[in-house]
Amino acid sequence: MAQDTEREQWGTKLGLILAVAGNAVGLGNFLRFPVQAAQNGGGAFMIPYFTFFILLGIPLMWIEWGIGRYGGSYKHGSAPGMFDVLWKNKLAKYFGALGLFISITILIYYTYIESWTLGFSLFSILGMYSNETKETMTGFLSSYQGITTSETFSSIWTAYLLMLLTFFINFWVLYRGISKGIEKLAKIAMPLLFIFAIILAIRIITLGAPDPAHPENSVANGFAFIWNPDFSALGNPNIWLAAAGQIFFTLSVGMGTIQAYASYLKKDDDIVLSGLTTSSTNEFAEVILGGSIAIPVAVAFFGLEATKEIAKGGAFNLGFVSMPTIFGSEAFPQGSIFGFMWFLLLFFAGITSSVAMGQPVVAFLEDELGMNRKKAVAFLAIGVLIAVQFVVFFLKFGFLDEMDYWAGTFGLVVFALIETILFMWVFGADKAWKEMNYGGDIKIPFFFYYIMKYITPVILMILMIWWFIESALPTLLLKNVKPENVPYIWGSRLLMVTIALIFLWLVKKAWDNNHKEVK
Ligand code: ALA
Repeated sequence: MAQDTEREQWGTKLGLILAVAGNAVGLGNFLRFPVQAAQNGGGAFMIPYFTFFILLGIPLMWIEWGIGRYGGSYKHGSAPGMFDVLWKNKLAKYFGALGLFISITILIYYTYIESWTLGFSLFSILGMYSNETKETMTGFLSSYQGITTSETFSSIWTAYLLMLLTFFINFWVLYRGISKGIEKLAKIAMPLLFIFAIILAIRIITLGAPDPAHPENSVANGFAFIWNPDFSALGNPNIWLAAAGQIFFTLSVGMGTIQAYASYLKKDDDIVLSGLTTSSTNEFAEVILGGSIAIPVAVAFFGLEATKEIAKGGAFNLGFVSMPTIFGSEAFPQGSIFGFMWFLLLFFAGITSSVAMGQPVVAFLEDELGMNRKKAVAFLAIGVLIAVQFVVFFLKFGFLDEMDYWAGTFGLVVFALIETILFMWVFGADKAWKEMNYGGDIKIPFFFYYIMKYITPVILMILMIWWFIESALPTLLLKNVKPENVPYIWGSRLLMVTIALIFLWLVKKAWDNNHKEVK
């Protein structure tokens, strides 16, 4: 059985809400969302997006808070132990290992990207880029990443040091623990993030058309581009898949992290209103703020056609090439300060999410293997620092993208399906419903009972099968992979299989050692 020592707890309700909102609000809100919306039918994207928010996002949020608080009452802060108490079967804990695999795999590459935002915030305030074109800024980014060299970056070491610094800050926060580390971080970073995002959004909305010779290149047209609904797009199944993928990623559901945070609640703490508040905070940050910054300003500066190309180029292109090009241009007064704010807000958004990705493994090592927090964080740090080397040095060969696909896209829907079936069917819908509503400041509207029991798992199953055919199979069979990248893609898979095997083994070891009396 788990340790008898008292588990940690959240200090305040506000701190808890900010921490879970911080877990959800991340790079996905400001970089991934605008690109997804722009690529997938603009305003029409919001129809599948909000449909899935109601049918998957909110129900999964409550399910995960429910599983987490319930597991926490048995002193389990990670999925293996939580699943073990939901389903009295010796396989349950091994399904839970998937939650550890997903959170740590995303942590490994996500924190590396987060370190770029820290770097770029410094480069902004130091004025290290100015009057760049998109081409020279592309060169700046790729030399920073060690893919090419430039006068500014002759090697990857700047990126490497910033990566180490970023991981160090993450591990330090985790080492400080739930209320003194994670909660304190959220209380500082979340308000700052919102202040910076609101200032940036207002600045951008009031920009108008910066080039009098091209009045059509305006912020208003940028909003029109992102929000004008292209209803014909709704017939395209890929748009529905993209919307579901965005909902998962942005809310951090299917990752094992919400459950870990909820495990530090008290038995009668509210989860209904808190789950709803954190989901709504995430949506405000994503749709209102995330939708008002990068794409509108890109249209104002580069025009509509160029912005379409930028959006096709993906989130990094938009965030780390287009945005600094704009902030470095003379037409953007005080661009270095706004650039600093942009990247620092991304860093705050990123770090409040990445510490959440580390917590399930820390909790697992503490709760199931009896380590103290110092040792647990040290173990996590060693493992992650070994794995991230490959991500850093093999970035250009698609190593990171492969991890992002299996853990950050496909894995989320698989894990969400497993936990929904376990909670709503194996544990039982009536018990689960009571558990989620227990201590609630409000009651969950009753129609969600049917949504959670029937609709959410059915949609998840359809999505999983559909995704498997549409993208997992082609990805698995290395379709569209450049021949020179193939060995690296296999390397990425080998790393992921190794991580998965290590967790399966640790789960077995933990239960062999400590849980004999439970069965
Ligand atoms: N939910 C986090 C994000 O949006 C992972 O980036």
